[in-house]
Amino acid sequence: MNLVSMKKILITGGAGFIGSHVIRLFVNKYPEYTIVNLDALTYAGNLENLRDIENAPNYSFVKGDITDESFINQLFTDHSFEAVIHLAAESHVDRSILDPLSFVKTNVIGTAVLLNAAKRSWKDMEGKLFYHVSTDEVYGSLGETGFFTEETSYDPRSPYSASKASSDHLVSAYYHTYGLPMVISNCSNNYGSHQFPEKLLPLMINNIVHSKPLPVYGKGENVRDWLWVNDHARAIDVIFHQGRLGETYNIGGFNEWKNIDIVHLLCSIMDKKLGRADGESAKLITYVKDRAGHDMRYAIDATKLNKELGWEPSLQFEEGMDKTIDWYLANEGWIQSVTSGSYKQYYEQQYTSR
Ligand code: NAD
Ligand code: DAU
Repeated sequence: MNLVSMKKILITGGAGFIGSHVIRLFVNKYPEYTIVNLDALTYAGNLENLRDIENAPNYSFVKGDITDESFINQLFTDHSFEAVIHLAAESHVDRSILDPLSFVKTNVIGTAVLLNAAKRSWKDMEGKLFYHVSTDEVYGSLGETGFFTEETSYDPRSPYSASKASSDHLVSAYYHTYGLPMVISNCSNNYGSHQFPEKLLPLMINNIVHSKPLPVYGKGENVRDWLWVNDHARAIDVIFHQGRLGETYNIGGFNEWKNIDIVHLLCSIMDKKLGRADGESAKLITYVKDRAGHDMRYAIDATKLNKELGWEPSLQFEEGMDKTIDWYLANEGWIQSVTSGSYKQYYEQQYTSR
């Protein structure tokens, strides 16, 4: 698709982890685009993540909730967006187990509200695009072998992945039923700076720094495919500009790790960085009750994206981890601000007497 003439883009969830990296890339790389960041600033959204670009002339922020239909319709009327990159979501599997309905509300209803607003405002669909950012978790769980491809049937297992699968189906339905131009990408686990410390890597980094127990679910044998968040943002850029309408693209790092191995790797890198004796941080590893319905293995086959659009990860995992750990060590103030308040309550509910 040719989006060279594209001028005004709505990015939802831009104050979150991946959204902030996508916004930074688009604001800096495309000064000719106007980027509007719409975010409800839930516990996971933080404008600190965008301090460096908040005064850029092609960037503005709007606080609002994607489930608020009249507000969203008005926003589309006021702005005449030519494209949407939709990242806003409830994103944490463990929270979806505690409170599934809030995931249905934001991820399913919120996506439907945005799709409807785009359909209403795009009388002429030519040159428009609804880019839906999704997850590999919609495909379910793999055994020891095999990969998820774009042809793999959906088989979501958690309230989070079921809500994301529903949102993917809605996007697809709007394409087939109303001709709404769309593209979907399904990505594996991201790591990098500004990730909320409810997720495995920043939680473990923070706990290692403070010599707190490192809660590994079950036997730690579940496998995830890790990708540097900036490489996800690069993939979104490429798909946004060159992807084929109506298509799905899988994004992954070809980088599978068992949870326990990645935690040991973190411990050994951090022992060196913190001047601790080799093996000291690993003593903090504590096996805890498994996550309900814990998917065993995710692995993405990103061949389509590589062959069609030439994308591949730019960083080796060890280098990415090194940069990531350095960022968290250098930004203790950021960690402190996001772990004060409601995080403490969440942590207690999730981990105390688990
Ligand atoms: P995140 O939880 O860090 O950020 C989500 C953002 O959405 C926050 O800024 C939050 O304030 C905002 N938000 C939540 N509910 C909202 C609402 N009702 N209205 C407006 N804004 C709202 O999530 P993330 O990890 O950055 O993930 C972003 C997207 O990428 C999600 O759609 C997620 O499903 C998808 N994804 C994430 C990963 C990953 O590894 N983190 C991998 C693949 C896909
Ligand atoms: O695969 C993409 C998905 O990756 C995204 O769609 C989700 O938004 C994102 O949260 C992530 O989901 P996971 O459930 O895989 O990520 P999380 O960091 O929560 O957990 C990674 C693995 O580590 C998982 O197997 C559970 C395990 N884990 C997690 C936490 C928080 C632990 O063992 N201990 C923990 O404390």
